[in-house]
Amino acid sequence: MKFNRHQFVEQRAALMGILVTIVVSIGGLAEIVPLYFLKDTIPPLEGVKPYTPLELEGRDIYIREGCYNCHSQMIRPFRAETERYGPYSKPAESMYDHPFQWGSKRTGPDLARVGGKYSDSWHVQHFRDPRSMVPESVMPRYPWFEKTPLDNSKIQDKMRAMKMLGVPYTEADIFRAPRETANKTELDAIIAYLQSLGKAVKREEE
Ligand code: HEC
Repeated sequence: MKFNRHQFVEQRAALMGILVTIVVSIGGLAEIVPLYFLKDTIPPLEGVKPYTPLELEGRDIYIREGCYNCHSQMIRPFRAETERYGPYSKPAESMYDHPFQWGSKRTGPDLARVGGKYSDSWHVQHFRDPRSMVPESVMPRYPWFEKTPLDNSKIQDKMRAMKMLGVPYTEADIFRAPRETANKTELDAIIAYLQSLGKAVKREEE
């Protein structure tokens, strides 16, 4: 019988394992190695600003309530997505997000560009009762947001932690933060956060 290269490799699991590893790593290396030689892996975006203290508190409520279980913040570069949600997400947009909120589940719509889409009072009513705004909505009600005073006792620590991770807060920003977040409700904070989403790209376009 003629020597068959396929049969030779396929009958030797260890050899085939080694060859598969070599082939797969070529693809990986071609993607990963160039990143080490690029000066800037995140193309800068002028409009990107760190969250204000109130937005940062709102983001923590978003995480606490698990909004990411139903909402993504990542518009992919496909026509169906950009037509519905707006310009696709750029890497620089989440450079101050620790941890990022890209999410992977869309029971509800993507929120990456929701800032400015609705008025604050729309959000107030939507959190009270989503069904009063969108009758077929399956989003839960969050009636406690407007009744719960915002606990801002840790805002300075949170900002210092973000600063350690590379968010350019100044000492003056941190000093002012307790005053900027005083006498607010959780509703104020989460709406401020939502209204900030996607603003960098909108600022860029202006
Ligand atoms: C069980 C899944 C679910 C959870 C949890 C959830 N949502 Fe939603 N959300 C939806 C659905 C479905 C819609 C679309 C219908 C509507 O507008 O109510 C929606 C719509 C929205 C919208 C309007 C988006 C648009 O472009 O019209 C916002 C803003 C929003 N949700 C914010 C939040 C926030 C903030 C939280 C966490 C406090 C949250 N959602 C939790 C399912 C969810």
